[in-house]
Amino acid sequence: MKRTHTCGELTLKNVNENVLLQGWVTKVRKMGAMNFIDLRDRYGITQLVIDESISLENVKSEYVLEVEGKVIERKSKNQELKTGEIEIKVEKITLINKSELTPFEIKDGIESQEDTRLTYRYLDLRRPEMQKNLLVRSKMNHVVRNFFVEQEFLEIETPIFGKSTPEGARDFLVPSRLNTGKFYALPQSPQLYKQLFMISGLDRYFQIVKCFRDEDLRIDRQPEFTQLDMEMSFADANDVMDTIESLVKKVILEIKGIEIKEPIQKISWHESMEKYGNDKPDLRFGFEIHTLNEIFNKTEIPLFSNLENKSIRAICVDSLLNKKELEDLTEVSKQNSVSILGFAKFDSNEWTGSIGSKLSDDEKSKLMKEFDIKTSSTILFVVEEYSKASQAMGAIRNRVAKLLNLLDPEVMKLAWIVDFPLFEFSEEENRYVAAHHPFTMPADESINNFDSNKKEALAKAYDIVLNGFEIGGGSQRITDSTIQKRMFDAIGLNEEQIESNFGWFVNAYKYGAPYHAGCALGLDRICMLLTGSENIREVIAFPKNSSGVDPMTNAPDLVTNQQLDELNIKLK
Ligand code: AMO
Repeated sequence: MKRTHTCGELTLKNVNENVLLQGWVTKVRKMGAMNFIDLRDRYGITQLVIDESISLENVKSEYVLEVEGKVIERKSKNQELKTGEIEIKVEKITLINKSELTPFEIKDGIESQEDTRLTYRYLDLRRPEMQKNLLVRSKMNHVVRNFFVEQEFLEIETPIFGKSTPEGARDFLVPSRLNTGKFYALPQSPQLYKQLFMISGLDRYFQIVKCFRDEDLRIDRQPEFTQLDMEMSFADANDVMDTIESLVKKVILEIKGIEIKEPIQKISWHESMEKYGNDKPDLRFGFEIHTLNEIFNKTEIPLFSNLENKSIRAICVDSLLNKKELEDLTEVSKQNSVSILGFAKFDSNEWTGSIGSKLSDDEKSKLMKEFDIKTSSTILFVVEEYSKASQAMGAIRNRVAKLLNLLDPEVMKLAWIVDFPLFEFSEEENRYVAAHHPFTMPADESINNFDSNKKEALAKAYDIVLNGFEIGGGSQRITDSTIQKRMFDAIGLNEEQIESNFGWFVNAYKYGAPYHAGCALGLDRICMLLTGSENIREVIAFPKNSSGVDPMTNAPDLVTNQQLDELNIKLK
C-alpha cells in the first residue's frame, strides 16, 4: 500500500517524519493565506495545512485525496483528537476521486430521515458513529469465536434452505424450481440441526448464524438477524447457563471494560411477572410492582370497588411526577388496554391526586408501610385482570424510568429468567402451543403430569436478559422418545402430522442420543445494548426499515412473469 499511516495514528512522536496519507475530505477551511483540511478515514481525522503555493483545485467535502507532507507540531492543540497535537504540512496533493454533494453531512448526530440514511447506507456507514457500531460488532464476534474455540466447540454451518415446520414464528418461503409446487423455508434458527449434531457425537457446537422470521418488526426485531447458536452434549441446563454467563460477562468486559463479578441472579418467570410485569425486567431501577387488593378490600374508592377477578397493581416512584409526565404515563396505560391510571402523590405529609385525595387514614398508613415511603413519592395504580394489569404496569414502570432518565446505557444489568411455563395458550388457534419449542424438556416437577396439567407445567428453559431486553434463550432438550411423543400429543399434533413434519427428526433419537442442552444469543440486540443504540438497525450494516423494506435496493420487489412461470407460480 502507498499510504505510510492512517488518518488516526500520527502523534507528537512522528514530528518531522515525511508521510503519505489517503482519505476523505471532511472539512475545508480558509484562514488568511492558509487552507486547512480535515482528512478522514476509518481510523480518525488528521489536520492538513496547505499554503497558497499548492493549488486546491476546488477540493470539497468527501473528495478522496492523497497527500504527502511533513508532520509538524500544532500551535493550538485539540486534546479530543488522538492526532490533535500535530498537523501535516502538505507538500503535494493528488486528487484520487471527486464526490457529488452528499444527501446528508458525513458526521455524527445527523437528523436525516431514517429512510434517506438507508437509501444511501454506504454514505451513512462513512459516519464515525456508524463505523464505531460495526467495529464493536466485529470485536464482539471475535470475542465470541475465540471463547468457543478455546473450549473446543466446533463451528459448523447448517443449511439455509430447510423444511417448513409448524410451531414458532411464520416462515419465509423459497419456491423450488426443480420441485414444482414445493417450497423451502428459511431457518428461524438452526435448532433441529444442532440437536442432530449432538446425536452425531460432535459434542460441542457453535455457529454465528443468520436466522429468518416473518414477524412484525420492532426496535429489537429484524426479519433477518444473527444468532450465536450453541449446543452441548452430556450437559444440563446449568452447564449451558454457566457457559453463556461466562461468555456474556467476557463480551461486556472486553467491549465495555465493565467487570461483572457476582453471579447473574436467577428470577423465576412467575416472580418476574409479579414484580416487573414482564419476562425481561430492566433491573437498572426498582419500582417493583405490588398487588394491593388486600389494602383496599374495604375501600370506598370507586376504582377499587367491585373488583371481581381484577387485581390492583401499583408501583411507587420516589419523586413527584408532574402533570405532563402523568399524562404521558396514562397514554402508555391506554396503549396497554388499561384506560384509567390512578395516582396518589405524597408530599409533606399530604396526599393528593385522583386516588390520593380519596384515601382513608387506614389506607394511607398501609400504603406508607407497603412501599416503605420515606420521601415525596407518587404511587401509580391500574385495575385489571392480573396479567393485563401486570403487562400495563410493566410498560408504565419502564416508561417512568425513561422519563426520570434512569436508563443509563453504561450500566449493564443481567438476569436469568428460569422456570418458564412449558405451554402458552394460543387464542388464535384455541389450543396450547409450546412456549419455547416442542423439544423443550419439562421441569422435573412437571414430568409426570405436564400433559394433563398444561396450565401449570413448567419447562427447563431459560432466557438471559440485559437492561430490559431478552438477549438469549435456550433449554434442556427432550431426548426420550416417550416424553417427546407425550409432548406432541399435548400440543395436539397427530401421528400423521408428527410423521410428516418431524418424522425425520424424531427418528434420529432412536439411535442413541446423549442428553444435551443449548442456547442462542441475539447478537444484534447485544450489540445494540453495548453501543447504547436506540434500535437494532443501528448495528446492522444493511437492515430493513420498519416496513421490512430495504430502501436502497427496494427489496422486496416484483419479479418478472418469466421468473414466476419457471416456478409455476401465479400471483392472486
Ligand atoms: P429464541 O427464539 O429465544 O431461541 O431466539 C434467541 C434469541 O435471538 C434473538 N432474536 C431476535 N433478534 C432480532 N430480531 C428477531 N426477529 C429475533 N428473534 C429472536 C433474541 C432471542 O433471545 N433455537 C432457540 C434457542 C435454543 O433453544 O437453543 C431460539 O432460537 O435475542
